[in-house]
Amino acid sequence: MNTFGIKFRLTTFGESHGAGIGCVIDGVPAGLKINEEYIQKELDKRKPGQNSYSTPRKESDKVEILSGVFENLSTGAPITLFIANQNQKSKDYSNIKDLFRPGHADMTYFYKYGIRDYRGGGRSSARETAARVAGGAIAQKMLESLNIKVQSGIFSIGGIEAINTDFKYANNSEIFALDKEKEELQKELIIKCKKSHDSIGGSVLLQIKNVPSGLGEPLYHKLDASLAGAMMGINGVKAVEIGEGVNASKLRGSENNDQISHEGFLSNHSGGILGGISTGEDIELKIHFKPTPSIFIPQSTIDTQKNVVNCKLKGRHDPCIAVRGSVVAKHMANLVIADMLLLNASSTMDKLKGAYL
Ligand SMILES: Cc1cc2nc3c(=O)[nH]c(=O)nc-3n(C[C@H](O)[C@H](O)[C@H](O)COP(=O)(O)O)c2cc1C
Repeated sequence: MNTFGIKFRLTTFGESHGAGIGCVIDGVPAGLKINEEYIQKELDKRKPGQNSYSTPRKESDKVEILSGVFENLSTGAPITLFIANQNQKSKDYSNIKDLFRPGHADMTYFYKYGIRDYRGGGRSSARETAARVAGGAIAQKMLESLNIKVQSGIFSIGGIEAINTDFKYANNSEIFALDKEKEELQKELIIKCKKSHDSIGGSVLLQIKNVPSGLGEPLYHKLDASLAGAMMGINGVKAVEIGEGVNASKLRGSENNDQISHEGFLSNHSGGILGGISTGEDIELKIHFKPTPSIFIPQSTIDTQKNVVNCKLKGRHDPCIAVRGSVVAKHMANLVIADMLLLNASSTMDKLKGAYL
């Protein structure tokens, strides 16, 4: 399945070392101001090869709009975006053609489909997430016009956690660090792991501001379930917390409930969602990424004939996927909220009449 969303629908295509990657976005309202420069700015934040904290694969990730936009405005037709691959080095992968990298998707893709594009991981490569960012940028445009803002940044690298969180600071940090006091330690840990041919995990904090109350489609398309599903669908994500998250299981009701006054909620342990519907408070999520599976320390694995072999990798890899993953997470949240806004527009007769009468 390569399509995400119900009304605001993103379909992605392409592989890591094929001609390119891209997406078709259907359900975009007409009249949204869109141009290539705007999408490019978002793509540049996820782009590889920008510093020593990401993969050295150099891709310009230059986006082309192929359809659905006329004179810088969406027309209501499907929008097609294409990003050509330029810096593939497929021969780096020839030595793993018949073996399965530990921690990667090589084995499961091979057993499921019986054929595997081993070059750079093919479709299982996170190169595909550039298409999600391009599609998410269109969703973000729609949200911006309603004053809704999704922000993300690095909360932790290994065990080094942020204490203070500043999304503005994260925007200008090479690793999108939320806490400038912890940034150097977090960077040092990434470099230390990289130098020892290893990788490191990390977590991302995501906040959505100015979401109206009422978004979310109970029972089987709840807002928290949809956000968690969107995040778990990102390569390498192993857990998602909403609001108080895992810690809520250690609390009493009297500690976890958000009491309510005339002015609204007195706290936000719920993370802005109750009963699968937005409360109007900030929505807060924490997304946990595993360490990059492709590491340069030799490891034991098997080949397609089930022989035990030594896996010695070459190639270019991110030392910490959470860093660029934080940009992907932001845009998956943009896509979820855009979809929920369109779905919610017909949730009551009053809203429907408001749109037509
Ligand atoms: C932005 C981003 C960059 C990634 N870069 C790499 C990489 O350079 N090397 C690698 O082995 N995995 C990388 N991954 C992770 C793999 O794509 C992922 O672990 C793999 O597809 C297996 O899927 P799973 O971990 O979700 O089970 C990256 C993930 C993201 C989100």
